[in-house]
Amino acid sequence: MEPVGIDAVEVWTGKLKLDLPDTFAPQKGEDPDKYRKGIGLVGSSFPDLHEDIVTMGANAAKRLMDRTGLTPEDIGRIDVATESAFDNSKPVSTYVAGCLEQYFDGEFRHANKGERKFACVAGTQSIDDAYNWIRAGRNRGRAALVIATDTALYARGDPGEATQGAGAVAMLIDEDPDLVEISTEQGYGSMDETDFLKPNQQFPSVDGKRSVQVYLSRMREAVEDFESVAWDLHPDDFASVPFHTPFPGMVRKAALLGYRHMSRDTEIEDALAGEIGRQPREADYASREAYEEAISEYTDALKQTEQYQSWYDRTIEPTLTISRQVGNWYTGSVHIARIAALQYAAEEDRNLAGEKLLVGSYGSGAQAEIHAETVQPNWETEIAQLNVDAQLRARYDLSYSEYEQVHDSHNHEKGTVDIDDFTEPSDEFVFTGWGRMNER
Ligand code: CAA
Repeated sequence: MEPVGIDAVEVWTGKLKLDLPDTFAPQKGEDPDKYRKGIGLVGSSFPDLHEDIVTMGANAAKRLMDRTGLTPEDIGRIDVATESAFDNSKPVSTYVAGCLEQYFDGEFRHANKGERKFACVAGTQSIDDAYNWIRAGRNRGRAALVIATDTALYARGDPGEATQGAGAVAMLIDEDPDLVEISTEQGYGSMDETDFLKPNQQFPSVDGKRSVQVYLSRMREAVEDFESVAWDLHPDDFASVPFHTPFPGMVRKAALLGYRHMSRDTEIEDALAGEIGRQPREADYASREAYEEAISEYTDALKQTEQYQSWYDRTIEPTLTISRQVGNWYTGSVHIARIAALQYAAEEDRNLAGEKLLVGSYGSGAQAEIHAETVQPNWETEIAQLNVDAQLRARYDLSYSEYEQVHDSHNHEKGTVDIDDFTEPSDEFVFTGWGRMNER
């Protein structure tokens, strides 16, 4: 069976930046270390006035198609994953396709276009759809374009304001991929939840603290489900573990619980027994509360061990390097975590070909998905084409009052806000206004 997976990727960051420790925190009367150390974000990306989810997605896809030499006729499917859609009928992919058709002077006339929604997990679900379409042999030799694009804004004053972001990731899903092969096995943890939702409203209603617990619970269930169809995971199975990153502090919590789970009943637990004891077993405790207290103490001790720290530094920390600077990209978030890990490995001259990634996606509402990926021999050449660092450096650094104006300008309820673009568009699709949505 031919491998199927991600053949090429491109990234488009919103062109504005808000510095969280130095610009945002002082205005909120907060300690900058809450951002640097606690939440783990130093910046958020925002769309300039001439950007929206369509232009960011189309600009990422244009760059991908340009450098891989693809024309619209080579693409049999375009799926856009987003939780920031503005049209309840026409999928965002039709707007993106319209932009690309103008530029490439060709048509996606025989491509299947759609839009996927399940909060942040929809990007991975769109990859699944493309994978299944190719595996079913319905692709007629063509590739699928998956675009994860979001503007993650929260109401001003909401605690979520600390974790905003905007950007798009375009991914080409194909046979014999250059970047990663995707495993057939998957695990799911899924349950109806109401901690984060947007029923007919632009900004989410969020119970932030509960959303963190729901993330951890669904992720644990997904890992267990994956193990039931694949294999019992061991921390050394993976070169990297890219997870959905609403903010790096969230992944720090998930990583610790994941490591504890994976090291149970292994030589790692044996080696640590003298230092921190063995993992508590529920059967040995008189009550659930006593067990939870014991497991919490064990987890705190595990976090301090050299074994855990070196695993974390190798497999988790490198996945956070882009997220730390851009904030939450919702559907694109786990996909920039993968890119960050691969970029870091390339910079370190680490050859990942043949090694495995454990990818954890998550969407509020809520669903987690776990699968494995195998890094392909050409991964380094593909990753070397990206210009993420240059894009991040080129962002306009907003003052706090400029941030407020930009936030208002993207608030659908505020109407037109009379300010100019902060950056000059160059060789890119631009948003020309809500009344003229096809004229990007
Ligand atoms: N130095 C070091 N650390 C500090 C600090 C300081 N001076 N001040 C605070 N901190 C730490 C806190 O101890 C805390 O760490 P722990 O969670 O490990 O205890 C961390 O910084 C954050 O501080 P708070 O909890 O006080 O921050 P907050 O009340 O402002 O809320 C939040 C944080 C809940 C994440 C909020 O930003 C939020 O609601 N975000 C949106 C929801 C979200 O992203 N949820 C994540 C799971 S849901 C999901 O993943 C889907 C999605 O994409 C939205």
